[in-house]
Amino acid sequence: MPKVVFITLDGGQRVVDANVGESVMAVAVRNGIPGIIGECGGNCSCATCHVYVADDYAAEVGGAGDMEDDLLDLGVADRRETSRLSCQIQVTDDRDGLTVHIPEEQ
Ligand code: FES
Repeated sequence: MPKVVFITLDGGQRVVDANVGESVMAVAVRNGIPGIIGECGGNCSCATCHVYVADDYAAEVGGAGDMEDDLLDLGVADRRETSRLSCQIQVTDDRDGLTVHIPEEQ
């Protein structure tokens, strides 16, 4: 079972089990990770699931799609190169250990 690692603002980390095919947002909400809200339920329309993908995983995860890209532009306070909406990142076996940083605000 792959793991996802969430890094909080204070540098703390939570390592949680994830199911292949599940979104990183769903993993966060299911595990009560603070700072990831997922208000729209993963429909790519709220931007309350913003994360920064850790550099080591950025290439594997890849960039945002067109709709996600627009939402990141409009709905995220501090967009960076590694910004993604976590509802659009799927858990896979290859992404075991995927690490994401939670932003200061959603
Ligand atoms: S949960 Fe709404 S955009 Fe990701």
